[in-house]
Amino acid sequence: MKHALIRVVEWGQELLSEVIQPGDLVVDLTAGNGQDTLALFQLVGKMGQVVALDVQPQALLATRDRMVAGGAKVRLQQQDIQPLQCEPGIDLLEINHAEFAWIIPAAPQGIISNLGFLPGGDREFVTRPESTVLALEQSCSLLVAGGRLVVVVYPGHPGGAEEGAAVTHFFTELPSVDFQVLQMKVSNRPEAPFLFVAEKTGLI
Ligand SMILES: C[S@@+](CC[C@H](N)C(=O)[O-])C[C@H]1O[C@@H](n2cnc3c(N)ncnc32)[C@H](O)[C@@H]1O
Repeated sequence: MKHALIRVVEWGQELLSEVIQPGDLVVDLTAGNGQDTLALFQLVGKMGQVVALDVQPQALLATRDRMVAGGAKVRLQQQDIQPLQCEPGIDLLEINHAEFAWIIPAAPQGIISNLGFLPGGDREFVTRPESTVLALEQSCSLLVAGGRLVVVVYPGHPGGAEEGAAVTHFFTELPSVDFQVLQMKVSNRPEAPFLFVAEKTGLI
């Protein structure tokens, strides 16, 4: 199969699927066009709750359309954001993931983030190291024991290498007593996307 060893997005989703059950609460930190949000919905089902965030309205609307087409019940908040209740369905919020923990209603079983720019959108509007690291810190605090955080990094666009370094530093520094961390990387293509998966141990 062509490019069989660089399917990091699918591997991220697969590694999340190992710990997610129907009915769970899960979070997508970067909704984009909604492909990860849809994959999460397919894992948690109609009795589960998916919270998906983005700062670009066009991303939230694209995600909403994809989710509605996929048969999901969608709630969209774009202003006067209120903290969420535990409730089956998809919550789409126009909010910066640098400060998102306060809206999450319980400890999520899984959190995903595909970094970089919105495919089909403005390629100069990208995730940034400072806000990404803040989002990852909150994610690690929120996760339930046994839950996983999946992050796909795109080092190939302007600013991507710096973000990749910041994300790598973040995961490398996570205490091994609290998190098991896996990295998947194409060793002979430094500009290829790479993946981190962190699983929270039951010890904290
Ligand atoms: C690579 S795309 C996500 C792809 C998406 N997961 C999918 O399946 O289609 C990255 C997204 O991150 C969003 N983003 C950038 N900075 C953000 C921030 N600080 N908070 C939340 N979303 C952000 C962008 O607007 C963009 O839609």
